Amino acid sequence: MSAALIAALKTRFDARVSTAAAVREQHGRGEAYHPTKAPDVVVFATSTQEVSEIVRMCAAEGAPIVAFGAGTSLEGHVCALQGGVCIDLSRMNEIVELNVEDLDVTVQAGVTRKQLNAYLRDQGLFFPVDPGADATIGGMAATRASGTNAVRYGTMRENVLSLTVVLADGRIIRTRSRARKSSAGYDLTALFVGAEGTLGIITEVTLRLQGIPENMTSAVCPYPSVEAAIEAVIETIQTGIPVARIEIMDAVTVAAVNAYSKLNLEARPTLFYEFHGSAAGAAEQAQRAQEIAAGHGGEDFRWASDPAERARLWEARHNIHYATLAMRPGAKSWGTDVCVPISKLAEMLRESRKDNEGASFPVTLVGHVGDGNFHHGYIIDPDNAAEMAEAERLNKRLVERAIALGGTCTGEHGVGYGKIKFMRAEHGEAIEVMKTIKRALDPQGLMNPGKVLPD
Ligand code: LAC
Ligand code: ZN
Repeated sequence: MSAALIAALKTRFDARVSTAAAVREQHGRGEAYHPTKAPDVVVFATSTQEVSEIVRMCAAEGAPIVAFGAGTSLEGHVCALQGGVCIDLSRMNEIVELNVEDLDVTVQAGVTRKQLNAYLRDQGLFFPVDPGADATIGGMAATRASGTNAVRYGTMRENVLSLTVVLADGRIIRTRSRARKSSAGYDLTALFVGAEGTLGIITEVTLRLQGIPENMTSAVCPYPSVEAAIEAVIETIQTGIPVARIEIMDAVTVAAVNAYSKLNLEARPTLFYEFHGSAAGAAEQAQRAQEIAAGHGGEDFRWASDPAERARLWEARHNIHYATLAMRPGAKSWGTDVCVPISKLAEMLRESRKDNEGASFPVTLVGHVGDGNFHHGYIIDPDNAAEMAEAERLNKRLVERAIALGGTCTGEHGVGYGKIKFMRAEHGEAIEVMKTIKRALDPQGLMNPGKVLPD
């Protein structure tokens, strides 16, 4: 990109523009194995108006634009594949408007999920979407993130009411009102949620909120095998127990969690559960889940509603990505992310675990199995070409199997550029419709180029 544009940005935004190598590099990578691709310049925006101005300047020069939140994405979403301008939104971290009576809140894109929940706690409210990392709400909307609570409360798709978006030509739009329902027009909110910054930049997000349940009971249960645990999950879901969370870990992963988060769980395939409701309601759910567990060899189902105990357990769960990295110092994680219909989950996992036998690196298993979504983590050395090729092969097999079973290549991490190669197989002709939309909204192809859609 041109030196003139960098100079113009510096004149306009002053110390909030950086070309320092360390700053650029930090903005050119997420938390997975993808190599760093630094942007040419980073601008720290503080308002929607400023984002609009930056986008207009870039559009005039034909410079690529990549939005950046917390940098915790897992498919190379923020890698500046064609260089250009990175717009860092993390300083846009204000809660704009809380409507307690309506159970909604509007936040700037740079607010993080933990920041939001700390703010909401005194009001008796919470926001349930919880990817492992303390991601920004803007980034979570852009990637259609989810996490452990999605089985009960849905993903960003179900929890975003409305967005403010800066389009590729600098125009600012609001996608819809705060009303809970609307039949007025195309669903632009759904279009921008999950577009990964390829259609516009999300600068404000209006979210639905939940009341903090009277009781939250969590449970842990080891199982004789992954298969047995999965059978228990499927029966729990199919019976209609409204679990708030139901998460699997295989024995290797439990051992990593024990070491990293100082727990002493039995190193066996394990389910973590959570039940929300009145004290009696949560207890009833737990009891029913316990009975199902026992039917699948999960005899040691332990439940507790002590808040400290609960917090420790879920903090450990959220840190699994980091726990598994610690298994092999210096390694990176290639986190797979398939999601299949729940009735196909047992077959999916049985076959993929067979494929993983004999892998030359550690392979972990965690998953939001109530949704049919799980992650094998390939704990690899990305500088080792043989390991990368092996991971590539295993992942391809996994994804092809998931698609054949009616599933998807990514349940929650998104496409970035890591999963582009599977988009045609998954979407067929629908890819052409996506491309038509992309061309209409970003005719110059400047918004996060090289992401989501194949050439
Ligand atoms: C998790 C993230 C990596 O489930 O999606 O821990
Ligand atoms: Zn996950």
